[in-house]
Amino acid sequence: MPNREEKYWLLRKQNVSKPNGKRRAPETLVDFFLPRHGLTQGENLKESISGIELGCGEGHLLDVIAKSHLSKTLNIKLDGLDRDSSALSCAKELYPQINFLNYDLRKEWHNGLQPYDFVMIVNVIHEIVSEVLLENKKASNHLSHNFALNVFQQLLLKCYSILNPHSVLILFDGVDTQDHSLVEFHFKDPNGLELLHMFANEFRFCDGSMFVSSPTGKIQMSKRDLLRFLTKYDAIVNNTWGIERNEIYQTFTYDEMANTIRKAGFSLIHTELTIADLKSWESLIEPVTSFEFPFQHVLIAGVKYA
Ligand SMILES: C[S@@+](CC[C@H](N)C(=O)[O-])C[C@H]1O[C@@H](n2cnc3c(N)ncnc32)[C@H](O)[C@@H]1O
Repeated sequence: MPNREEKYWLLRKQNVSKPNGKRRAPETLVDFFLPRHGLTQGENLKESISGIELGCGEGHLLDVIAKSHLSKTLNIKLDGLDRDSSALSCAKELYPQINFLNYDLRKEWHNGLQPYDFVMIVNVIHEIVSEVLLENKKASNHLSHNFALNVFQQLLLKCYSILNPHSVLILFDGVDTQDHSLVEFHFKDPNGLELLHMFANEFRFCDGSMFVSSPTGKIQMSKRDLLRFLTKYDAIVNNTWGIERNEIYQTFTYDEMANTIRKAGFSLIHTELTIADLKSWESLIEPVTSFEFPFQHVLIAGVKYA
């Protein structure tokens, strides 16, 4: 039986193959690198390009690029950066053709790196922001959203500084909803209410009571809180909750992300808002009156201004 940590890594690997999931990031990158957009247009097309994934974990997404037709067309140098040395040892063993760097994105990691033609950041911003928010909460007893936005912007400015002109930024992560309307539903899963109680009591980013349940089993909660619960459901069931309760996946709304990316000097060339886990969400709850689920993920592609 894998232990809790091992189970966490296994789940992360499985997530690479989900349709609409994070695999869309390297796929989009490959699409945008063909001579249609940004860097690869006309005379800017180089025979050899370089890219980096920030927070690459075990390197599974870099491998998607390494195996793509992009790698067959151009000579690509791929780097992966992470601060987790056990993930990097695993990555080095799995993908020896990729270069892995051990840096902390909250420090001055960008100094001295060679300029790249793309940077990809997948499911990392929410980890950094969660950590920053919890540290901030410890110091000042509240979760400072503006402080978190500033940390995000500083990271984007560093990305900008390591990119050649016209280079591509690909960001994939969780997205928050602006829809706080109330919805009503029943759990199809007989353990649903117990799991929701556990979530509401233990999630480190709760701000107030999250739901009301009636004796008939009807639950009323905001779409915003429902989204937070649904994105953590797998973790609660799979016993990785001890790690996941310290991370919020809904750090920023789409507008906040898009504006911060623009402010850092990128023009947006592509956006996708998706729900990779829609089927599992639909199998968990039965709405009293039907409603649309909020989006789970955002994928944004930007190009660095010249
Ligand atoms: C959810 S994993 C995503 C891994 C990979 N991008 C993927 O999607 O398969 C987040 C990764 O970000 C890394 N990470 C989080 N905070 C970091 C930091 N401050 N500096 C460098 N890496 C960080 C973690 O170690 C972890 O490997």
